[in-house]
Amino acid sequence: MHNLDGYSIKDYGEMVTDPVRTRAFVTALTQAITPDSVILEIGTGTGFFALLACKLGAKKVYAVEPDNAIEVGKLCARDNPDTDKITWIQGLSTEITLPEKVDIVIGDLHGTLPFYNFNLLSMRDAVARHLKPGGMILPSRDKLHAAPIESPEDYTTIDQPWAQDVYGLDLRAGRRFLVNSWWRRPVTKTVKFLSVAQCLGEIDYANITSPNLDGECDWPITSDGVVHGLSLWFDSDIGPHASYSNAPDLPGLVYGNAFFPLETPVRVKSGERLVFKFSAKLIGEEYVYTWTSEHIDETGKTLARFMQSTFHGRPISRKKLEFASPDFMPVISDEGILALHVLQAASEKASVGEIADRLMSKLPAHFNDREQALAAVQKILQKYQTK
Ligand SMILES: C[S@@+](CC[C@H](N)C(=O)[O-])C[C@H]1O[C@@H](n2cnc3c(N)ncnc32)[C@H](O)[C@@H]1O
Repeated sequence: MHNLDGYSIKDYGEMVTDPVRTRAFVTALTQAITPDSVILEIGTGTGFFALLACKLGAKKVYAVEPDNAIEVGKLCARDNPDTDKITWIQGLSTEITLPEKVDIVIGDLHGTLPFYNFNLLSMRDAVARHLKPGGMILPSRDKLHAAPIESPEDYTTIDQPWAQDVYGLDLRAGRRFLVNSWWRRPVTKTVKFLSVAQCLGEIDYANITSPNLDGECDWPITSDGVVHGLSLWFDSDIGPHASYSNAPDLPGLVYGNAFFPLETPVRVKSGERLVFKFSAKLIGEEYVYTWTSEHIDETGKTLARFMQSTFHGRPISRKKLEFASPDFMPVISDEGILALHVLQAASEKASVGEIADRLMSKLPAHFNDREQALAAVQKILQKYQTK
């Protein structure tokens, strides 16, 4: 089964116990649910909001989650009244068909930023295929905000390991990957804003036209200091009277907030400007973030300009580049050959035991005993069999 985010049960528990986040969703659900409500929860995790929807009197709940965490929800359902209204579906909301359209779609698919995996596409699909016309989607709107910050602590992640003298070694070549990366700031770190936050763009969940976002901020510097980077966060309207924000100057939420470094920290003075352009683009299965920053003095002269992108944030392996060429002739690994035999036998409707026996006769050098062959077969089938 898909494991999009790889959350542990501990992580799901921390989401539920985040008082600000969970309270906002509880408030919105309490206001929205009526005895006629049919609800879809996208990404139910361990089922908390689905169980809550039953408690609040919903008529029917579809709880969808690809992760095995959904089993925890089913177990908890046994200990709570009225939870037989829940249909648990292990899978992706984008790949299922429901027997009816729903009144409310709820899904907290946020990461540190609203862009996370296919979350915006999932919400768009839910509105198009699962939600009744005029139905409600929770969250309803995110506003992406940014501010230039002084945060030497964040910059030590770049400067300390990738420096000229690290135990006598020059490691500066690694620096370029870090300055083209962003990271989640732990909520405990302090931060100094060097200008007032501005909005980079909005996501209206009922009307998502694209998973991408482009935005621009033009900040008048309001305090002297050193800009180490930009902090990005979202203010989320969950329902009409329920909202929260993971801004770095507010009590920390489970999401943390994002830090996008400048290529080099810049010393700024009141009266100067920092112009920031930001783009989030879903390319294949991943978001690529690109950000340009221009430091401009009182007279309009550019003092520094940086263009950074997560596209340059990871080293590229020469081997993988070769592999991208259509002329490249692949050689299948031992593991691949094993998978080939297992899948071939499975497609011929052999049982797990029969597949293991066939493997042992075809690849005798691979296994010490039948137990080992069975384990190898199960590992491969776990990945490819229909759940
Ligand atoms: C942030 S967790 C939220 C868990 C729980 N609903 C909560 O709010 O406490 C997001 C979950 O959404 C799931 N998810 C992401 N996209 C999904 C989709 N299209 N369909 C179903 N689940 C999805 C992930 O596997 C993950 O478990």
